[in-house]
Amino acid sequence: MNIVPVNGIDLAYAQHGTGVPVVLIHGFPLDHSIWRQTIEVLKDSYRLIVVDLRGFGGSSAPDSAYSLEDMAADIAGLLDHLELEKATLVGHSMGGYIALAFARLYPQRVSGLALVASQPLADTPEQKQGRYDTAGKVVEGGVGIVRDAMLPKLSADAKIQEAISKIITRQTSAGVAGALKAMAERADSSSILSEAQFPILIVHGDADLLIPIERAEQMKALNSAAELVVLNGIGHMPMMEAPGDVAKEIAKFALPE
Ligand code: MLT
Repeated sequence: MNIVPVNGIDLAYAQHGTGVPVVLIHGFPLDHSIWRQTIEVLKDSYRLIVVDLRGFGGSSAPDSAYSLEDMAADIAGLLDHLELEKATLVGHSMGGYIALAFARLYPQRVSGLALVASQPLADTPEQKQGRYDTAGKVVEGGVGIVRDAMLPKLSADAKIQEAISKIITRQTSAGVAGALKAMAERADSSSILSEAQFPILIVHGDADLLIPIERAEQMKALNSAAELVVLNGIGHMPMMEAPGDVAKEIAKFALPE
C-alpha cells in the first residue's frame, strides 16, 4: 500500500490497472483486502483504486472524534493527490454510507455511485445507543466482541467467515470504535439517491442478514433510473460470496459513455 497524508492522517491506498477510475470503499470493520477478487477480474480494463478508510488497515486516525463526512473528505483528498477530478465510487455497506456522504459533499466529482449491501438510512435512537455501547466495549476489551457478533451475520460460508475473521482481528480498537461513532451520527442520505444526477447501481444479496434486501428495494424506489441487481442466496459480503457477479456488474456500470 502507498501512504498519502490527507486531512491530518496517513491514508493507505493502492492502484491496480489503467482505464476508467473506480474507487472501491470497504465496509465495517474491514479493510481494502475484501476487494481482492474484484481487482483480479477488473484490473485489466479499469483503474482500480482501493483505500483503507481512516482507522482501518494501514491508515491512521486522529484521537478526536470524526464523521463519515471526514472519511469522505479523505477520499476527495486521495483523488486530489491522484489528480482525478471524478471517479466511479463503489461502496460496501459502511463504505456505501461514505460514498453517499461523498456525493452530498462533492456531487460534481461522482461519475457513478454503486452501493453494495448498503442503504441510505440513519440509525434509529436505539441503534445509535447500541453503537456507542459497543464502541465502549471495544475500547475496553478489543475488537473480538464486534468480530464474534458480526461474523455469523456477514456470510453463511465458513471459509469466507474465516477470511473475514482474520481481517477484523487485525483492526485496532480505536479505529473500530471511531467508525462506530461516525456511523451513529450519520445523516439520512435518501435525498442523495432521489436527487442524484449520476448513475446509480444497487447490488444486494437476498440473504443479507445485516441489511435486509427490502432496503435495496426502497433505494430503487427512490430513484427509478437506478439499476438494482439482486443476488440470490448471497449474504452481506457479495464481493467475496459472488465475486464474478459483482465484478461483472461493476464492469458494466463503470463503462465509459
Ligand atoms: C458494514 O458492514 O459496513 C456495517 O455492518 C454497516 C452497519 O453497521 O450499519
